[in-house]
Amino acid sequence: MKILLTGSDGQIGWELCRTLPCLGEVTATTRSQMDLADRDAIGTTIRTLKPNLIVNAAGYTAVDRAEEEPAIAEQINGWAPGVLAEEARNIGAAIVHYSTDYVFDGARRIPYAPHDEPNPLNVYGRTKLAGERAIIASGADHLILRTSWVYSLRHSNFLLTMLRLASDQPVIRVVDDQHGCPTWSRLIARATTEIIAESLTEEGGHWSFEGRGGVYHLASGGETTWCALARRIFASGVTECIPEVVPIATDQYGAAAARPPYSVLDCRLTERTFGITLDDWKISLAQALQEDLPLAIGANVRDGR
Ligand SMILES: NC(=O)c1ccc[n+]([C@@H]2O[C@H](COP(=O)([O-])OP(=O)(O)OC[C@H]3O[C@@H](n4cnc5c(N)ncnc54)[C@H](OP(=O)(O)O)[C@@H]3O)[C@@H](O)[C@H]2O)c1
Repeated sequence: MKILLTGSDGQIGWELCRTLPCLGEVTATTRSQMDLADRDAIGTTIRTLKPNLIVNAAGYTAVDRAEEEPAIAEQINGWAPGVLAEEARNIGAAIVHYSTDYVFDGARRIPYAPHDEPNPLNVYGRTKLAGERAIIASGADHLILRTSWVYSLRHSNFLLTMLRLASDQPVIRVVDDQHGCPTWSRLIARATTEIIAESLTEEGGHWSFEGRGGVYHLASGGETTWCALARRIFASGVTECIPEVVPIATDQYGAAAARPPYSVLDCRLTERTFGITLDDWKISLAQALQEDLPLAIGANVRDGR
């Protein structure tokens, strides 16, 4: 099987580069190899490579900056997934795409299931929802995996921000009224690979998820707030400087983009359909810090950072 991966330098994409090769030949692309803002680049790459599966791990993920750059966010998150999906459909390929808990408004207090009505509060969420709809409208065989609060020991995310702030700030103010579930990018990549292995089949040159395509939720178990997550990170002993973590309300933080106060994802459909559940966030956070922090520190030392 030939797989085209986008966003291979991102949090999830980097992990997919390590898990997908067990399924077939992977062509991993970054923005410089295939810019998702460029229709011709997408078309040419796909028609030349003729992949059987496209895994789109690229995205415009700067939630606050998207408020200032809605057209670019729309192009990468809303328009490009539709183009990828149309190209996939035209050659009989299937597509896997990632979306977000931020498609929901957070007005409820029980986990959101895939069929619950989206109502995004910010530009990022609206563009991600547009991308989902464009893929569905394309008629391509697809899996849309919504995940949440992704972290890793690379790129940019809440975990790394906390570790950086801890080194020079004795007091950190962290939002305590948004509830969600932190999810380690490695678990997302592993689960994605298992789901593909379990469900993707070929018949007469057409690749499909055997009637199981659709929208699914893929996030760790449990739930927390950003403030409780910060405290958990510092309690794990990964940093010698342990700042005081002061809980604040969302409006005290003053982010450019509104965020859902509650965006925990109900992943039971994923479990029922593919037999896959991710560990509780506390277990996987501990595992990520144990496995990857020494590597991340080593890389920084080697790079002179
Ligand atoms: N991060 C989260 O908390 C979160 C939560 C829920 C869902 N998701 C979704 O999961 C997916 C992956 O997220 P992530 O956290 O792994 O993102 P990430 O670390 O920000 O990586 C995104 C990747 O997309 C690439 N990209 C951006 N614009 C591009 C363009 N025009 N052409 C080609 N590549 C481009 C980026 O390349 P550059 O490095 O060159 O910019 C980057 O490598 C996204 O669809 C995101 O919406 C993320």
